[in-house]
Amino acid sequence: MAELVWISGASGGIGRALVDSVPWPSARIIGISRRRAPGTEHLAADLADPAAWDEVDASFRRELAGFGGDRVVFVHAAGTLEPMGFAGSVDTAAYSRNVVLNSAAPQVLGHMFLRAVAALGGAQRHLVILTSGAARSVYPGWSSYGAAKAAVDQWVRNVGAEQELRGGTQVLAVAPGTVDTGMQELIRATEADDFPQRQKFVDLHEAGRLTPPAEAAAKTWRLLDAGLDNGSVVDLRDQPG
Ligand SMILES: NC(=O)c1ccc[n+]([C@@H]2O[C@H](COP(=O)([O-])OP(=O)(O)OC[C@H]3O[C@@H](n4cnc5c(N)ncnc54)[C@H](OP(=O)(O)O)[C@@H]3O)[C@@H](O)[C@H]2O)c1
Repeated sequence: MAELVWISGASGGIGRALVDSVPWPSARIIGISRRRAPGTEHLAADLADPAAWDEVDASFRRELAGFGGDRVVFVHAAGTLEPMGFAGSVDTAAYSRNVVLNSAAPQVLGHMFLRAVAALGGAQRHLVILTSGAARSVYPGWSSYGAAKAAVDQWVRNVGAEQELRGGTQVLAVAPGTVDTGMQELIRATEADDFPQRQKFVDLHEAGRLTPPAEAAAKTWRLLDAGLDNGSVVDLRDQPG
């Protein structure tokens, strides 16, 4: 197989659209999520539990041993807004899972991927992590989500610079815009008390202004060969359709 692609969050939303639009027909795709991810070899993992990260690491190392193909990609799209609500009010266990999944998992899984690809020969290597405009904008009710995406952005800037010095993997953070997925359904189903800016997203939905997941996915794949600086944080709304 010439290309080997891992996609976390492959069972829904943007991750699923990425699976459906992998631009290399012969690619082998490994989907990481709790629910089965159609169109992939499924690696069942609850990434809010650090114990599950070892299985992802084992998959990276096992599949890359002896890999002689052209390209290796890990897109980390898994993420959650739950629990929406104010710090100090929401359930502590759910808040902890949000912090672990959104902040820690991208950094540690990204690190594991970079370790696994370090010994590869000539294959092109890409690590893409989904971020959000919430890394910069303030949204009461999304404290740990916004903090996590800000962490992702800065992690990608630093690791991209490291890979530029030594390593050779392209590292990108991609903010997809406001995309018509289950995550947006969840926002619209949330009480304004827990997420006061809910109406903004209801209005975008009613105005038909949510980006189709397939469009976000196609734009994301195009970034891999767009000659971006390593460590770039890209907003798909700034990218040509
Ligand atoms: N949609 C938007 O408007 C938007 C905007 C900005 C950024 N983003 C970012 O884009 C990425 C994808 O978002 P989306 O809208 O596609 O979300 P989504 O529709 O809610 O899908 C989330 C995906 O993440 C997986 N996931 C969630 N919790 C997980 C866990 N504990 N362990 C393993 N996998 C888990 C889900 O799979 P399982 O439930 O099967 O585990 C699912 O495949 C996220 O990082 C999100 O922050 C989205």
